[in-house]
Amino acid sequence: MAHLAVNVDHIATIREARGTDEPDPVLAAGIAELAGAEGIICHLRMDRRHVKDRDLELLRRTVKTKLNLEMAPAKELLDIALAIKPDVVTLVPERREELTTEGGLDVARNREEYGRITRTLKEAGIAVSFFIDPDPDQIRESVTAGADIIEINTREYSEARTEPDILREFEKIKEAAKLASKLKLRVHAGHGLNYVNVRRFASIPEIEEYSIGHSIIARTVMVGIDQAVREMVALVSQF
Ligand code: PXP
Repeated sequence: MAHLAVNVDHIATIREARGTDEPDPVLAAGIAELAGAEGIICHLRMDRRHVKDRDLELLRRTVKTKLNLEMAPAKELLDIALAIKPDVVTLVPERREELTTEGGLDVARNREEYGRITRTLKEAGIAVSFFIDPDPDQIRESVTAGADIIEINTREYSEARTEPDILREFEKIKEAAKLASKLKLRVHAGHGLNYVNVRRFASIPEIEEYSIGHSIIARTVMVGIDQAVREMVALVSQF
């Protein structure tokens, strides 16, 4: 049975829109765990645009399921990961100007560097996941570089708009999951998954974990606004 890991970055994005202290991704992570999430994910970006070092430190102390730190393969972040010791590090490429992670790692081109970072993390007892496109070469290179897990980038699938394109992208993911599992990698998937497009994945038993953020936080706002407004209406109507 697959499980869900919730990415809490966008709780921090809302907080940073005002540079204040709410909403708190740490509190949201606790509620997500109470609701059944089996993992909490945050991406500590080089520019700290949403999640901050403070969030990561507190998440490490409070997350009871599994803390997965998404990070670029950079020395500064490696040092932080070694100090904080999340359960999993997911290596992702990062471009400063991007709105969100744009594509998977090019493992072949960076074999030595990723291999070195992976060994260091694994020696510290941290499992290592590579965020890669559903590409057989990247999967084989991930094995060579020592990854324990691959997270298949579902962005192309999520952004496909016609049925043939959707099917083509989905087949790539399905084949990638099969190959990775055959090569003894654990398989995660994520990026752009929502309450509609995730349904198709029932036919890929190899994927053990889904990493989902944006659609859950978007729904959080929509399912929560009714109660939040009622509470403020009740308050001001007493004046
Ligand atoms: N996996 C990775 C590697 C990501 O970078 C992201 C986005 O932060 C996600 C999963 C979650 O994507 P989304 O927010 O679109 O659900």
